[in-house]
Amino acid sequence: MLEIKDLKVRYGNIEALHGISFTVNKGEIVTLIGSNGAGKTTTLLSLSRLPKPEAPTVVSGDILYNGESLLKVPPHEIVSKKRIALVPEGRHIFGNLTVNENLEIATYALDKGADVKAGYDQVYTLFPRLYERRKQRSESLSGGEQQMLAVGRALMSGADFIMLDEPSMGLAPVLVQDMFKAMKVMNESGMTILLIEQNARIALQFAHRGYVINTGEIVATGTGAELMQDPEVKKAYLGG
Ligand SMILES: Nc1ncnc2c1ncn2[C@@H]1O[C@H](COP(=O)(O)OP(=O)(O)OP(=O)(O)O)[C@@H](O)[C@H]1O
Ligand SMILES: [Mg+2]
Repeated sequence: MLEIKDLKVRYGNIEALHGISFTVNKGEIVTLIGSNGAGKTTTLLSLSRLPKPEAPTVVSGDILYNGESLLKVPPHEIVSKKRIALVPEGRHIFGNLTVNENLEIATYALDKGADVKAGYDQVYTLFPRLYERRKQRSESLSGGEQQMLAVGRALMSGADFIMLDEPSMGLAPVLVQDMFKAMKVMNESGMTILLIEQNARIALQFAHRGYVINTGEIVATGTGAELMQDPEVKKAYLGG
């Protein structure tokens, strides 16, 4: 479904990804793990192609989605036409709007006649806390609840491929478990997931496959179980 081919990107004169390659097949949960500054968020930003001044520039390589180069797709069509959703680091929800309104906005790119109600049902079934707080202004949600809302918005956008940047960040352990269980349910109902995580232990436990990124290069790959057994991965990312 997604194929990253020898991708090199830079910020100004500094190369941040030195030719990385990986794939995500339809129906999979694939995780990209690595420590601070490894290039995880950069990978995600390259994929989403948001036209921001601080966005990385692709130097060479390609990003294929169902065989088509995303580098040739206008950025606004990544969500509306390609049905790829991004849950960025830091979430970016509209704080002065309610939970329900944030979800409603996310449906802007849906086709006419799309089943919006089914979307709300799906989100509120996955995250009952959001249902309880549906009329509450989003800025008053806890960090964990805001994270749930960010995932909920991606679901409302009608995406069948979702990329999440460190969904576990800042969450209490019990909420991390809930978040990953929600992703598993989403995956079982057909969502393909690229999960970026510093929390290697839980990411490898839930993912079908994983890649380890270190200073802009992929240094290991395998199934979640294989990577958890890999001595180097254990030492560097799982606390020995
Ligand atoms: N806007 C930017 N301008 C210049 N350099 C940047 C920019 N954003 C990131 N970098 C650099 O690119 C490298 C990769 O950063 P990136 O944000 O992708 O790391 P990360 O793996 O997401 O780390 P973390 O786990 O801390 O979020 C780092 O060396 C970082 O300093
Ligand atoms: Mg990051």
